Amino acid sequence: MGAGPSQSEGDVNQSPLRKQWQDQHLDQTTRSLLARDSAAFLHQSVSTPCLSAIARAEGIWIEDTAGRRYMDFHGNNVHHVGYAHPHVIAAIKQQLDTLSFAPRRFASERAVELAEALGARFKALTGCAGKVLFTTGGSDAVEVAIKLARIATGRFKTLSFWDSFHGAGFGASSVGGESLFRSGRAVGPLLPGTEHVAPFGCYRCPYGHAVDDHGQPRLDQCQLSCAAMVRYVLEREGDVAAVIAEPARAVPFIPPPGYWQAVRAACHAHGTLLIFDEIPTGLGKTGRFFAAEHDDAAPDIVVLGKALGGGVLPIAACIARADLDVAAAYAFGHYTHEKNPVTAAAALATLEVIERERLVENAARVGSYALERLQEMKQRHPVIGDVRGRGLLLGLELVSDRAAKTPAPDAAERVLYAALSRGLSFKTTMGNVLTLTPPLITTREQMGQALDILDECLSESGRANGR
Ligand SMILES: Cc1ncc(COP(=O)(O)O)c(C=O)c1O
Repeated sequence: MGAGPSQSEGDVNQSPLRKQWQDQHLDQTTRSLLARDSAAFLHQSVSTPCLSAIARAEGIWIEDTAGRRYMDFHGNNVHHVGYAHPHVIAAIKQQLDTLSFAPRRFASERAVELAEALGARFKALTGCAGKVLFTTGGSDAVEVAIKLARIATGRFKTLSFWDSFHGAGFGASSVGGESLFRSGRAVGPLLPGTEHVAPFGCYRCPYGHAVDDHGQPRLDQCQLSCAAMVRYVLEREGDVAAVIAEPARAVPFIPPPGYWQAVRAACHAHGTLLIFDEIPTGLGKTGRFFAAEHDDAAPDIVVLGKALGGGVLPIAACIARADLDVAAAYAFGHYTHEKNPVTAAAALATLEVIERERLVENAARVGSYALERLQEMKQRHPVIGDVRGRGLLLGLELVSDRAAKTPAPDAAERVLYAALSRGLSFKTTMGNVLTLTPPLITTREQMGQALDILDECLSESGRANGR
């Protein structure tokens, strides 16, 4: 999944529209694989039972078992360099033939190289040298970051945001803010001391402030209440170890100007560390290597994952200011694949591809073309209430009444299945937001084709609604 889906998505894998799409599109081979999948896997929201079955993935494309091809504008945010990038695959194969595993007590050349490369990227972002721990998944890396912040500050509380997603582990779901992942009463108590506040999200400002006609915040009126609330809680609690957040929310919501600088200052004032979870947004997705670069607010710790393994292997990283290297007495990130040379080789090759193919720049360029086109589509489709994005993290919020901003989850689902039928895959978030997260290799022409499909589907949905 991209960032976590919202509560309202809990039943998306059971919805009548999905069933209708499956009845029309799945062949017998796919149906029987889905039946086996459903019988063999524990069912859970937003995965099993599955939508369809996949046979191939290459570049921006996925192909299902019936031979139907889709541009994958979802990809769980793992496919920045495209699926099966030849350079990544070759690096993995070569590493498998050289050294396929490293027990933790042995340094491994590839893992060291990767730690150095990410440390250098961290330094370029923050001005401070960075040190690294690798885990297999993002949720684990988030928890390493939380543990490090606790040890370094001698405090145990965290402040995070409602509606955020940080992974499925106990610690990660405790700082996350979606009940689908917190599991309500079903799972029982989560970590103590995990305070939450409402996030930024100007179009639907939880603090009640309006946006202007272009969807931009009226800062003179709102005075960044969302950031002021973070400062308020840090002050009242007085002993918060870390604020943990996605710098750009994957819904998506883009922070209002000055938001992270204000939060950064509040963290400084109260001895609190700032952790940025850049698992979906890092490595160029937003048109900068780190999404945080847009906001001029240096974090103390950054977490990367997902695309770091090139869309092939699982690897995530917690990168911290080198002076936070104060936990040597504890095994706080003791993961079996900590020094794995094969996952490290995949990550190094991924970084090379991102640099060589100038993918960060491409994400910025193609993303701004897409935003322009989506804004133009908003003029013609009354169902589009808001368009927002940064780089290739893009979203359209669908509403049945623009003035009242009434969410239109039915329209979002209809558009999703109409687009799937035409060969474009993306996901819906919060029920009514079409979230587009194409790979960084997407060309302007491919983006144009995808947006043509989306345009057609919105027209079709509008006609069905008599608009
Ligand atoms: C913001 C964010 N943090 C953490 C995670 C968890 O990563 P993983 O699924 O690799 O544990 C995700 C995954 O979607 C994410 O989007």
